[in-house]
Amino acid sequence: MVESAVQRGLEDVVALESRICFIDGKGGRLIYEGYDIRELAARSTFEEIAYLLWYGRLPSARQLEELTTRLATLREVPAPLRRLLEQVPESSSPMDVLRTAVSALAVYEPSESQPGANSIGGAQRLTAVIPTILGEFHRRRKGMPAIRARPELSHAAWLLYALRDKEASELESRAMDVALILHADHELNASTFAARVTASTLSDLYSSVTSAIGTLKGPLHGGANERVMELLEEIGTPEKAEEVVKAKLARHERIMGFGHRVYKVEDPRATILRDWSRRLGETRGDLRYYHLLREVERVVHREKGLYPNVDLYSGSVYSMLGIPKEFFTPIFAASRVAGWTAHVLEEYQDLRLIRPTAQYVGPVDLHYTPLELRE
Ligand code: SDX
Repeated sequence: MVESAVQRGLEDVVALESRICFIDGKGGRLIYEGYDIRELAARSTFEEIAYLLWYGRLPSARQLEELTTRLATLREVPAPLRRLLEQVPESSSPMDVLRTAVSALAVYEPSESQPGANSIGGAQRLTAVIPTILGEFHRRRKGMPAIRARPELSHAAWLLYALRDKEASELESRAMDVALILHADHELNASTFAARVTASTLSDLYSSVTSAIGTLKGPLHGGANERVMELLEEIGTPEKAEEVVKAKLARHERIMGFGHRVYKVEDPRATILRDWSRRLGETRGDLRYYHLLREVERVVHREKGLYPNVDLYSGSVYSMLGIPKEFFTPIFAASRVAGWTAHVLEEYQDLRLIRPTAQYVGPVDLHYTPLELRE
């Protein structure tokens, strides 16, 4: 047995080469295909970012128009899947519903019969249909009117319409668009790695995304922003932040929205989302979330030297956009599907079965004891 140092959680293990995303953990920079996230968040749209991640370059005006139109035509949920969504219990976790729906979609639209399903065509279909899946489920359980096709809406505006049924303001659509840009990719995070492991066996795109959704559901990964809002509800006022946070830390509890495996300084996405949380709060005349989060930040940094990650402010932005808390992680998935599919396609292009080894620490040379002789 070869003795070797186990890297728990594969921390700092370089598993593969990729052109899609670079994270400078020390400098706090995030790069998509060479472009800094700060510039993309300020000047781009989610449709542009999806194109960038899939094709490796920013689209021309004509290419962007074609993609935008294509995504709008791919939003429809097929009738058998709509019927399935009508069967799921209304109390189901939206992440369970999303994982089930994407998996079911592969049954109703098998990749074998869909030319290009295991390529950008499948990536576009999944990216376009996820907001509709979320909206269909949410509207049914809330007795809201059925979704109507709104091809004129951008992807971000469509996502807001699907979940709220009221027109989004320019500012709200832009806030949603920026959040989608910020969550679109993040190198080999757990859910993207799960997608690549699945794809590395030559499994199909929909199975790879189903693996990713199941992985993102975990609170150490995608589910943190929901728990941040629960923490704010528990704290109530900025004056109580110190007492509540210190008590949690004393119990060795994790404060959701803080820390990161790669960033050793502030997550640049948190910086941008903090500003959007403030802007939306000012527009609504309600900076409650913002002030609470700033206070929590102060205490956690002083007590643990930890910095905020993308999940700290995203929940406050989504809350102020009128999105129910249980849809925060599904929104993360609605954006990250662009990155997941880009990584799956990259895996297909330079395929290598992902199969690490384990350091065996169990017994050896045991002999079989017949059942009748066992205690
Ligand atoms: C995302 O990987 C990605 O890129 C993910 C993501 C993406 O875009 O895909 O960026 C999205 O998942 C953001 C992270 C969301 N999750 C949370 O906010 C959950 C809370 N955060 C932690 O659980 C934690 O920080 C992780 C999981 C994010 C990272 O954990 P690591 O790298 O495994 O760090 P660790 O558990 O080894 O902790 C190191 C130390 C420990 O202290 P000691 O026990 O050594 O004294 O830091 C402490 C930890 O206790 N610590 C925390 C903490 N995070 C780390 N203490 C309190 N609260 C926290 N949040």
